[in-house]
Amino acid sequence: MPIETASLAAHGPVIPVIVIQRLEDAVPMAEALLAGGVKVLEVTLRTPVALAAMEAIARAVPQAIVGAGTLRTVDDVRAARDAGCQFGVSPGFTESLAEACRVHGLPLLPGVSTASEVMQANDAGYRFLKLFPAVAVGGVQLLKALAGPFADVSFCPTGGITPDNAAQFLALPNVRVCGGSWLTPADAIEQGDWARITELARACTALRA
Ligand code: 3PG
Repeated sequence: MPIETASLAAHGPVIPVIVIQRLEDAVPMAEALLAGGVKVLEVTLRTPVALAAMEAIARAVPQAIVGAGTLRTVDDVRAARDAGCQFGVSPGFTESLAEACRVHGLPLLPGVSTASEVMQANDAGYRFLKLFPAVAVGGVQLLKALAGPFADVSFCPTGGITPDNAAQFLALPNVRVCGGSWLTPADAIEQGDWARITELARACTALRA
């Protein structure tokens, strides 16, 4: 079932940005995140097993809300939808991607990094946007500046967010939720250290009062 991106923030302050290298890690990793209270999962389309991983999680962990990250093309959108994803995230914004998401019924959290891109995404009907790469393009200062002209737009900053700076972002009125890869470190996944992932997830749920 597609889920409106605006509702994602209701489930917690951080959306983990996940890279899965081995299919067999997908389900235990998702279960570890859920055990720590994190149920919205962005699985990036960056590895050969990504689509199979999304499918496996969607089937085996029905409480999870699985989204596809790194959507770049029309084919990515179709594949993500077919894999059972409930929403999509893109690093940037294009008309063709937005159109594909409309056609396939996949709610999109599109990425932007400038005022012009905010306006283009607004033109296409999007008011909740990913700021990417958030820290590199100006971080908290940029979000404060964008709040002036774009008072009706809110953001999910992603890229450079850490446990140390996340609270600063989450305190901004125009930030609903952050994205970050720190909840699923590559070495923890490789070692099957699911307890560490659960601990990281649990710690992040306290970031927003
Ligand atoms: C990414 O591109 O992998 C995401 O933006 C996550 O970035 P991060 O590793 O800085 O959290």
